[in-house]
Amino acid sequence: MTDKNIAPQNPQNPIVSLLCNDSPVRLERMVYQPPLIPAFREGSGSIRSLDGFSLEVLKATREQLPFVSENRLVDIIPGGVRQEQSRRIGIVLSGGPAPGGHNVIAGVFEAAKRAHPDNAIIGFLAGPKGIITKKYKDIDAAIISEYKNSGGFHMLGTGRDKIDNTDKMAKCRQTCADLQLDGLVVVGGDDSNTNAAFLAEDMRDLGVQVIGVPKTIDGDLQVPGLLQVPFGYHSACMSFATEVGNLNSDCKSDLKYWHFNRLMGRSASHIALEVALQTHPNVILIGEEIEDKELTIHNVVRLIADVVVERARRGMNYGTILIPEGILEFIHEINVLIIKISYIIASYDKEAVGEESFHKLPFEDQVQLIDNHDIWRDYDSRVFLGLPTELQRGLLLPRDSHGNFQYAQVRTERILLDMVATYLRKQRGKGIYKGTFKHQNHYYGYDGRGTFPTKFDCDYGYNLGVTAFTLLANGCTGYMAAIKDVHKPLEQWRPIGIPLAPLMHLEERRGRLELVIAKQKVDLDSPAFKVLAQERIKWAQEDHYRFPGPIQFSGPCADAKPITLQLNALGL
Ligand code: FBP
Repeated sequence: MTDKNIAPQNPQNPIVSLLCNDSPVRLERMVYQPPLIPAFREGSGSIRSLDGFSLEVLKATREQLPFVSENRLVDIIPGGVRQEQSRRIGIVLSGGPAPGGHNVIAGVFEAAKRAHPDNAIIGFLAGPKGIITKKYKDIDAAIISEYKNSGGFHMLGTGRDKIDNTDKMAKCRQTCADLQLDGLVVVGGDDSNTNAAFLAEDMRDLGVQVIGVPKTIDGDLQVPGLLQVPFGYHSACMSFATEVGNLNSDCKSDLKYWHFNRLMGRSASHIALEVALQTHPNVILIGEEIEDKELTIHNVVRLIADVVVERARRGMNYGTILIPEGILEFIHEINVLIIKISYIIASYDKEAVGEESFHKLPFEDQVQLIDNHDIWRDYDSRVFLGLPTELQRGLLLPRDSHGNFQYAQVRTERILLDMVATYLRKQRGKGIYKGTFKHQNHYYGYDGRGTFPTKFDCDYGYNLGVTAFTLLANGCTGYMAAIKDVHKPLEQWRPIGIPLAPLMHLEERRGRLELVIAKQKVDLDSPAFKVLAQERIKWAQEDHYRFPGPIQFSGPCADAKPITLQLNALGL
């Protein structure tokens, strides 16, 4: 411990000491210096091409991004060229916050300063909007030391603006030109890295290089064999696992509640998978499996209810259930409705005059409008009308600026809970269910985005920042900074640059096909999923609860990594 990590004491006024904004944990974290991985210990590192991976680029990508489509996969090796001239680099945090983001900025900043003392880092405020509107702040060593190893994105703020038209792109160009930037680092998920690819293509004539950094607690920004997880995933999972572990402990104590837990993760169920492996709950829903088995929402309700009935038969009227936030996308009948309604909303808003918009209409008129649309079939109406009203209303909610359905806004855990309760009442009527069904529902999401990063995410974020700087220093643009083999000890981590173009695919957004970076879903053939599928059979009937406890920064658990990553690395 140094003086810096002891909360300031004020003997005259103990209240001042007790209410000091800097909690002891935060102060302890501020002094932690993430270690550099070997490739960066002799300077920024240099690049060479990395063979053995086939990365195909779609025709549509080649047409829209001809310049960045030429990029090849690169490896970073020790021993960088000396930087003679200073550089000016902008950085933007984009999309949902993820723990470790401040360390990415620290990594870029400190690598830049090591390379040349006059290198300058500029942070754009409130996400991509900060580039469009030229709102920024200069980043210095004091800011870095205040935020290093802390959670959230509040050093700069974040946002979900999409740079999706010529006007916004022109404004970004103007900002980068006015600020005389040589490089721009975009820290974000699939949509933000898509922005990065388009910015790289558009700003090459200005000499502004653009590098993306993989972030998202959802864990779905992965490139098989090259990028195992984005930063932020581990911390969020551990934050949620702490809560679910606590509920395991509580429900096993008073034996009276079923806890329905919805876990964030807009689409893929990576978070639910990791949290399940950390906590061993009684029911775990994995969206990708539900899709694979073509389950309807009523099948899902039945699946949960069957476990409740069986446990009640064994005298266990309690338990924990994990529900991934994105589950609705994997229930085919519901996903069809989401896609069709997104299309209808987008077409209505396109034609709308002035301030008019779909979401200003009363619910009944929205339903009527959907019902009258050409793409809406009688079958769609039957499915829609058979859903609980809360889910019907949820399906009509506004899409985000990228055209994504906002799963975070729908209380899926509550909807499923109510449907399970209804089903159990019927089972009771038939004499099949004799237990008591008392329940609680919880949502874990925004809390995990703001949690303190795990040591893994501190080190990972920091070295991703150094990787991003190194790619810029080596003249790269249109790449995503990545680190291979993060399941291994840090001494064996390998920084690489992944071309963004081959990661793109065509996806329906706001009623039209758009190029975006593809999300990676949970692989049902992966060792991690197979282990879960095997183990959860006994977790459903007996209690095998695991209590992971809070994120540790020192001690034996400080160096923990996602279990999913480690199981997958075993290649079972
Ligand atoms: P990113 O993909 O930008 O990392 O954000 C992911 C996420 O946290 C999802 O898990 C969640 O559904 C969504 O953001 C919530 O978005 P918002 O902050 O707009 O409510």
